[in-house]
Amino acid sequence: MGRKFVVGGNWKMNGDKNQINEIINNLKKGPLDPNVEVIIGVPAIYLSYVQSIVPDNINVAAQNCWKVAKGAFTGEISPAMIKDVGASWVILGHSERRTIFGEKDDLIAEKVAHALESGLKVIACIGETLEERESGKTEEVVFRQTKALLPAIGNNWDKVVLAYEPVWAIGTGKTASPAQAQEVHASLRNWLAKNASQEVADSVRIQYGGSVTGSSCKELGACPDIDGFLVGGASLKPEFVEIINATS
Ligand code: PGA
Repeated sequence: MGRKFVVGGNWKMNGDKNQINEIINNLKKGPLDPNVEVIIGVPAIYLSYVQSIVPDNINVAAQNCWKVAKGAFTGEISPAMIKDVGASWVILGHSERRTIFGEKDDLIAEKVAHALESGLKVIACIGETLEERESGKTEEVVFRQTKALLPAIGNNWDKVVLAYEPVWAIGTGKTASPAQAQEVHASLRNWLAKNASQEVADSVRIQYGGSVTGSSCKELGACPDIDGFLVGGASLKPEFVEIINATS
């Protein structure tokens, strides 16, 4: 269906200039599959620096932003600022934002709406906790989180990538099995066909995230409804290149 594979790295609150230089040099060396879109999510304070040293085939994302362009919001950054330093993406609704910082569906939707209005592209994250999975609520949670985004995205689906990240798989070394991930991706696509449109369902890229490594990426990447990855820990390591090239 022509969905371009898209691999994001989420550095979270990691890295200093030395490590950043190493990561970027490793990505420059690659070689990276030219058919894959690569996006690295860097700490806000390094956005400008990373943007100044990345090659053209790598896009830079912020890991969060606020829901208005400017004002009295101590400690926050806006989409306008992210764009001003040359970055073009933002990751929103990551489970760490949801759980540690208490961000709810409504706030995430407001952030997504403002980021899109401001001309940023968005990786919007969704996913269930272990407790929710074990009580059979995976679909309910993922559909609820996605439903909150529908009005915020409107007809900007071409500027959005969804990242399905089961919370129990993030940073735990417990990757979802390809079958588990594919099942949720397929049912989410089905839900989108009914609740957004068939065109959205066919075209939107859905990344899988949660302990993706060089050794798990190929099997996951071969699943028909998995269109890329959002990678935390392994995006800081040389194996990120292998993950980017999972489908080549
Ligand atoms: P992980 O993180 O790859 O370290 O599990 C993924 C994420 O949080 O995006």
